[in-house]
Amino acid sequence: MAIVPNPHKTTGFLGWIDDRFPLTKLWKDHLSEYYAPKNFNFWYYFGSLALLVLVNQLLTGIWLVMHYKPDAAQAWDSVEYIMRDVPWGNVLRYLHSTGASAFFIVVYLHMFRGLIYGSHRKPRELIWIFGCLIFLALMAEAFCGYVLPWGNMSFWGAQVIINLFGTIPFIGPDLVIWIQGDFIPADATLNRLFSFHVIALPFVLVGLVVAHLIALHEVGSNNPEGIDIKKHKDPVTHIPLDGIPFHPYYTVKDVVGVGVFLMIFLGIVFFAPDGGGYFLEKPNFTPANPLATPEHITPAWYFGAFYAMLRATPSFAGTQIWGVIVMGAAVVILFFLPWLDRSPVKSIRYKGPIFKLWVGAFVISFVLLNYYGMQPPSPTGTLISQLCTVVYFLFFLLMPIYTKREKTKPVPERVPHDAH
Ligand code: HEM
Repeated sequence: MAIVPNPHKTTGFLGWIDDRFPLTKLWKDHLSEYYAPKNFNFWYYFGSLALLVLVNQLLTGIWLVMHYKPDAAQAWDSVEYIMRDVPWGNVLRYLHSTGASAFFIVVYLHMFRGLIYGSHRKPRELIWIFGCLIFLALMAEAFCGYVLPWGNMSFWGAQVIINLFGTIPFIGPDLVIWIQGDFIPADATLNRLFSFHVIALPFVLVGLVVAHLIALHEVGSNNPEGIDIKKHKDPVTHIPLDGIPFHPYYTVKDVVGVGVFLMIFLGIVFFAPDGGGYFLEKPNFTPANPLATPEHITPAWYFGAFYAMLRATPSFAGTQIWGVIVMGAAVVILFFLPWLDRSPVKSIRYKGPIFKLWVGAFVISFVLLNYYGMQPPSPTGTLISQLCTVVYFLFFLLMPIYTKREKTKPVPERVPHDAH
């Protein structure tokens, strides 16, 4: 049967491929003829950086698995073997462990960009929702990975987190044993967390990232002005007048971001891979010991805020279930952001001072919560965490009111030209 020539009129080997697979079409649709707003700024680096860190985690992970043993009796020794005997093993491991922290830094900044420029607003709600699902999967992935070296914090961290399920009325205690496959975190627990960490969750993460980007390319990117660039198109070419092709303009821009990021990231990997005890915690430099609880069981820094909320919620009638509910609600509320923000404008640039004040209070609360979540419990820490938890929730819950009432500035029709 004759093959219909491809519409791009490519010839040679590329033509042969294009007759059978939409390679040139994909390249044009998503890169060379994907028109992105011309005014992307610093905050727009973090999407491509999140992709870079994801690839780093996948590649270094694959090589770590070649030497790692998911067995409670061997896991610790196999990690020591990687660190001491496997050629480049220490670099490989630190790229992965420091990469986990880098992932959260990049993703938190990426989410913050969405928040301030209203990138979650119509028609980008699904991009945001896929993002929130990515965030959930990332948290699960990081938790499972943290347990794998079977250090003492791995063991006790797993114990604390899995025991949260024990707060569920009636089924809680049985559920904990079912999840653990034993009465305490043990070989069965390590095996299942390993399986989730290397197979199930990476699949979910990659799938969600693909969905995230498909949704993004369906509606097009937002920008720091929050202006819809599709409203003004060239009458002949139908190209948005304020758009520029993603490739080469933003591929080149993103290379700059990648360069700066790698300098900082590799500097940390080579000279301070434990991040002063924040990226790799001190108790995790000793093997798991069910008989020796670390002095303070604290989560990795990126869970600090949620852990602080858990600890700050008083237990009623001897159950911590309310703490678990508050912690869960702090993540679930993110999904509703596109409908909580009722402002007539998207970008913070055109919003009034009240929104800016709330964003400031939210950021301060989130940073303080992260800090106190990593500190040993203290009366001052608990009080500050309680106040910050209230501010965190009020920021979202009052948003429909303060964004709707506040006077906003008029948004220009076209992206303003700003000669650098
Ligand atoms: C593995 C994690 C993630 C990856 C690889 C990723 C990747 C990307 C990329 C490449 C872009 C386009 C470039 C850019 O706008 O910076 C983007 C846009 C976006 N992402 Fe993500 N993302 C991730 C996680 C998240 C999360 C957790 C959220 C929010 C909960 C989120 C929300 C958004 C939004 C709203 C946009 C559109 C931004 C705009 O057009 O202004 N992403 N993402």
